[in-house]
Amino acid sequence: MSKQSIGIFDSGVGGTSIWKEIRALLPFENTMYLADSKNAPYGPKGKERIIELSIKNTELLLEKDCKLIVVACNTATTNAIKHLRANYNIPFIGIEPAIKPAALQTKTNAIGILATKGTLSSELFHETTNLFGDGINIIEQEGEGIVQLVETGKLHSEEMKGLLNIYLKPMIEANIDHLVLGCTHYPYLMPLLLDILPKHVKIIDSGEAVARQTKAILEKYQLLNSQKIKSKHQFFTNGNPEVMNELLGDGFEVEPLEF
Ligand code: DGL
Repeated sequence: MSKQSIGIFDSGVGGTSIWKEIRALLPFENTMYLADSKNAPYGPKGKERIIELSIKNTELLLEKDCKLIVVACNTATTNAIKHLRANYNIPFIGIEPAIKPAALQTKTNAIGILATKGTLSSELFHETTNLFGDGINIIEQEGEGIVQLVETGKLHSEEMKGLLNIYLKPMIEANIDHLVLGCTHYPYLMPLLLDILPKHVKIIDSGEAVARQTKAILEKYQLLNSQKIKSKHQFFTNGNPEVMNELLGDGFEVEPLEF
């Protein structure tokens, strides 16, 4: 059982930012990653469609015998994880914008959230902001276009810089001291974000927390791989393997797959 892979899916390449955290914390775990780049972006799609796509990805990972699934996509988590947990008998780990730590730590009483339309409009997101956002100025910004640029290999483009300048301006004007990254594609924007934001703004993403939670759940269900040997990592994409190869760096092979 424990040798089975941790399954990970995202609407595309962004979830590799989560895979990197999981690999760092759990070096002996085998992993299998699905990038549904053909259907990216999920953000503008309705809840029903996001649930359908999440089911498709889940069933493929189950067919491939994964022992646990990490939904490495804020949009899929906030719209579909309740459905997945109710219908499949396997542990699911999700990711959602880290509003709680930002809201607890802010000194300026203003925080920014950059996420997709699907995440910002979800019930789960509203529940969390209602719970922790009392008396705090939360500036929500939809990152329209960012996922497409990452998916097409235009991470460091002028177009990306232009979009980020527009999206962050109202947050800077509102004197935010925390920016919450609510999409797993966004950690790859870190150098650009640091360039644009004032030095005192802390950028928060949930990747490390997801890896810790994955470890805790594997321990709880006694699913940790007991074999302390070099782990195996498989990456499948229904989009362009080049873009994912670039983000993963040397030593990993991305296989094209229709799904
Ligand atoms: N990585 C996905 C997320 O975390 C991107 C969603 C999209 O495809 O729009 O939300």
